[in-house]
Amino acid sequence: MEKVVCVTGGSGAIGSWLVHLLLDRGYTVHATVQNLNDEAETKHLQALHGASTRLRLFQIDLLLYDTILSAVRGCAGVFHLASPCTVDKIHDPQKEVLDPAIKGTQNVLMAAKEAGVRRVVITSSISSIHPSPNWPGDVAKTEECWTDIEYCKQKGLWYPLSKTLAEKAAWDFAKENDLDVVVVNPGTVMGPVISPRLNASMIMLLRLLQGCAETYEDFFIGSVHFKDVALAHILVYENKSATGRHMCLEAISHYGDFVAKVAELYPEYNVPKIPRDTQPGLLRAKDGGKKLTDLGLRFFPMEKIIKDAVEDLKSKGLLS
Ligand SMILES: NC(=O)c1ccc[n+]([C@@H]2O[C@H](COP(=O)([O-])OP(=O)(O)OC[C@H]3O[C@@H](n4cnc5c(N)ncnc54)[C@H](OP(=O)(O)O)[C@@H]3O)[C@@H](O)[C@H]2O)c1
Repeated sequence: MEKVVCVTGGSGAIGSWLVHLLLDRGYTVHATVQNLNDEAETKHLQALHGASTRLRLFQIDLLLYDTILSAVRGCAGVFHLASPCTVDKIHDPQKEVLDPAIKGTQNVLMAAKEAGVRRVVITSSISSIHPSPNWPGDVAKTEECWTDIEYCKQKGLWYPLSKTLAEKAAWDFAKENDLDVVVVNPGTVMGPVISPRLNASMIMLLRLLQGCAETYEDFFIGSVHFKDVALAHILVYENKSATGRHMCLEAISHYGDFVAKVAELYPEYNVPKIPRDTQPGLLRAKDGGKKLTDLGLRFFPMEKIIKDAVEDLKSKGLLS
């Protein structure tokens, strides 16, 4: 049982990388998908090295407790990644985003408790750290900082609201039920995508390369490679000394820094010109992921993250 773990959202962009690295390390993985009959959710996982003997797929719905319990039974650890993360227009925030994120997290933790799981790693986000307009502008954001819930409600920022409330619900559950929970808060995750579908952060990069001049000042505080995010999850799972939240990004930067780097590396694309200082009040910092570097993680720099991501988009025929 020690090396049996569950990855919710195993079919997703980050989930697939995590399943891949866990299988490589000899773990048996229960990966969850939303539809076992959809090859776009299953085939790339079944093709991973080690999958034929050590991967089991489970169909879950985050709002159906029993489906989750079946997936986590027999596992020593759970990595909870499944959560709505979309660039599509949201019509019913409660139903489409907030309920699956918050109630889904509570259901996963309840099932973990019932199944006797020893440690749960929750994939939160820098979106539960930022936007936080009341944080002092001369202090770099840290794990002490929380997204401003009222600000998100006023502005209709449903994704950061969902991640913040889901993470808070996880900490409440852990305290009330004495469950061992640890959290990873990734920045904007990019790189080569194993799953056939692009996730929201890769779609954001694709749109940027196609000339779309959105700014994302409410969201962006740094980038991180898929492989590093997956490794971060394994590090905090395996190191019993890892506690609390872990910001997971190569550096705290402005969205403008990121856009300027993409434009410098790929002048052949129509990358829009936007000001460097897109996020007044956000202090740049080189060591935003310090808790993880202290655990041994060496983050890929922004340049490598962008190059790996763009070359992947090209290889998939999404950029010429
Ligand atoms: N991408 C980023 O930059 C970023 C940054 C910080 C944190 N995160 C967090 O990382 C996690 C994974 O994100 P990702 O980028 O890998 O996105 P993704 O590719 O869209 O993966 C999301 C996963 O969640 C599953 N899921 C969504 N709603 C579900 C529901 N109601 N019931 C069951 N499963 C459901 C999806 O299943 P299907 O495949 O069946 O749709 C998919 O496996 C999320 O918690 C996200 O908030 C992402």
